[in-house]
Amino acid sequence: MPVHRRREGAAAFVELDFPPVNAIGRDARRGLADALDWIEAQDGLDRVILSGRGTCFAAGADAREFDAPPVPPHLPDVARRIEDCPVPWIAAISGPALGGGLELALACRARIASPKASLGLPETTLGVVPGAGGTQRLPRLVGVERAARMVAFGRPVAGAEAATSGLVEALADDPVAAACAVDTARLREAAPVRTRSAAPAAAATLEALRAEIAAKLPGRAAPGVALDLVAGAASSPFDEALAAERAAFLRLREAPEARALRHLFFAERAAKVPASLAEIAPAPIERVCVVGGGTMGAGIAWALLSAGLDVTLVETDDEAVARARANLDKIVAQGLKGGHVSKGQADERRARLDATTEFGRAQGAGLAIEAVFEDIGAKRAVFARLEAALGAEAIFATNTSYLDPDAIAAGLADPSRLVGLHFFAPAHVMRLVEIVRAKETSPRALAAAYALAKRLGKVPVLAGACEGFVGNRIYARYREAAETILLDGSTPWEIDSAMTGFGFAMGPYETQDLSGLDIAFANRRRKDAARDPARRYPFVVADRMVAEGRLGRKAGVGWYRYPGGGPRVDDPLVEDMIAEEARFAKVSRRAFAADEIVERCTLAMIDEAARILEEGMARSAAEIDLVTALGYGFPRARGGLMFHADALGPARVLTRLEALAAEDAAFWRPAKLIAELAASGRTFASVGG
Ligand code: COA
Ligand code: NAD
Repeated sequence: MPVHRRREGAAAFVELDFPPVNAIGRDARRGLADALDWIEAQDGLDRVILSGRGTCFAAGADAREFDAPPVPPHLPDVARRIEDCPVPWIAAISGPALGGGLELALACRARIASPKASLGLPETTLGVVPGAGGTQRLPRLVGVERAARMVAFGRPVAGAEAATSGLVEALADDPVAAACAVDTARLREAAPVRTRSAAPAAAATLEALRAEIAAKLPGRAAPGVALDLVAGAASSPFDEALAAERAAFLRLREAPEARALRHLFFAERAAKVPASLAEIAPAPIERVCVVGGGTMGAGIAWALLSAGLDVTLVETDDEAVARARANLDKIVAQGLKGGHVSKGQADERRARLDATTEFGRAQGAGLAIEAVFEDIGAKRAVFARLEAALGAEAIFATNTSYLDPDAIAAGLADPSRLVGLHFFAPAHVMRLVEIVRAKETSPRALAAAYALAKRLGKVPVLAGACEGFVGNRIYARYREAAETILLDGSTPWEIDSAMTGFGFAMGPYETQDLSGLDIAFANRRRKDAARDPARRYPFVVADRMVAEGRLGRKAGVGWYRYPGGGPRVDDPLVEDMIAEEARFAKVSRRAFAADEIVERCTLAMIDEAARILEEGMARSAAEIDLVTALGYGFPRARGGLMFHADALGPARVLTRLEALAAEDAAFWRPAKLIAELAASGRTFASVGG
């Protein structure tokens, strides 16, 4: 795995070869330094062409090295040597050129990219800023405004946009061949990027961008620092600004935010098919049957179509088929508006959809995904129809949120073909999918579920068949804690504001208003018979809201009011209702501070997650982190629920839970696993894996 170098006439070729993505670590930096020594010792060269072997130019600095002290040669020094090399370098970019990879390309005298290349500085998504000149060289090519946006949000651009913005000088299907053909005299004249000046941005533009960052990435440090550094490119001397950039990079990479984001980055990539299933090659699937075209079914169908699969969508009657089509049209319209899909692409995808009332039309589908009402009878009837319509090899998946997949499968001649595929709404956007292993689920069905997740570009997390699986089970405990705080002395807005202050994208009450209070209500009624009589029932206000038709946004009123369908407004009536219900329940209310609310809610979630781990319902703490961060808005900058729990430490978690148990032993009884970890000094991360 070296940096290859060779010479052909007056051209030298330097090729990065660090599979799978040419991440630039110590060996790559050394290899480049050696290549520079070799080039400087050659006579008669007129160009050096830098490229990457395989599918990437270079995916960036090797993030695995960020936990250790930096080792020379450092990337900024390598980049500077490339820029100052007596022989001009050209970056020939096929595939991703990201982070440190793009910084190397920026140090070259010219850049040629393939149209399919993606170029960007995604460092802020890892909690750092570019550390090898990216914040200074990029604005000198594309101007401060565009660079600031690219760096702050870390979103890469495709080849064509890179060409129109000036980031690359030319587009070519074969960038190496095009680099060979660049005119020698023109190349010699190309000035080093650092000697150019950066087009400044208006102060008002930068302020607007700062406000956008604060709104979209609340509580995150790196994007704001990146913005300041990029803005400085128009006014500060290059070397001074470069030193500031490096110092910021080194400072940020040690900070909790970067550690947490790195953890999630690697956890996402580790969420792959388990070794026990790796040998199973699932049959290729080209057609999928989706049953139900409501909120979930339509989103799932669009995700499948977007991944190139054919879809048969089955609904109950012609009217329902029309509704399903309308649901899909809405998704397409949003995609067109947001520029996520072109009209041509949308038409091609829609042409692969067959919406029908006939199960028979799904013949040949290798997989069926059921997304009908949350009702065991309806679901079992659907699978009976599917069993009759599809071949014995077809895999069946249920998108149930709470029902027991074993009970759903019980009517099938072969229950082992059924697996849970729990998508999140909107299913074409949310990257998380829980793969639920029922008792009977076969390895073949699980392998097919993993293969589908991969095809859809989703992050799969394996869950056992328990009430709510991983995510909803933890969320239910969170809700219960929040509801208790509410009854004992708080308000929806205080709780929401405490949780968003902690970094959640949305508080639990705003979330309920969005998803509708009736769903959780129906779920509570389903569980009434099995409820532990020793456990307090704090959902009295939530039940009353439903009884009064306050179902959330769709009713125009829920925990909040939404006058004219606009933004939420606190509702004093709700405060009165809570006070009244508390009186009925003989609760003497008291105020809760924001940090107390956060502590109770997070401890309740941690305790439930520990039980999930203890029971083997999740594979690892890292997979729980993925569920909470990707599916439930847990702050990414805290690395997910269990990463946060380890930051607190199991011993402290235990002490606090024990203190709360004095108040309500039925709710706060700590999981055995927490006590074990606290006693042995181990972390949650050490469990499973
Ligand atoms: N440092 C270290 N390892 C990296 C890496 C990086 N910057 N980028 C990717 N990898 C590793 C992944 O961990 C994974 O390792 P594994 O096979 O052991 O699990 C492997 O490379 C493949 O990555 P994956 O993301 O699964 O491949 P992909 O083909 O889906 O995507 C990229 C390729 C380049 C688009 C994607 O990996 C990416 O965006 N990388 C990060 C870019 C980045 O943030 N760079 C800035 C670093 S400061
Ligand atoms: P929905 O009410 O929006 O849609 C259900 C659809 O199923 C309707 O269009 C209905 O006509 C159709 N349907 C009912 N019986 C049918 C049958 N026998 N054959 C064909 N179609 C039938 O519901 P939804 O929100 O899409 O939820 C569907 C499933 O997904 C439920 O199990 C739910 O628990 C689960 N789920 C929902 C969400 C969410 O946020 N909405 C998230 C994850 C999982």
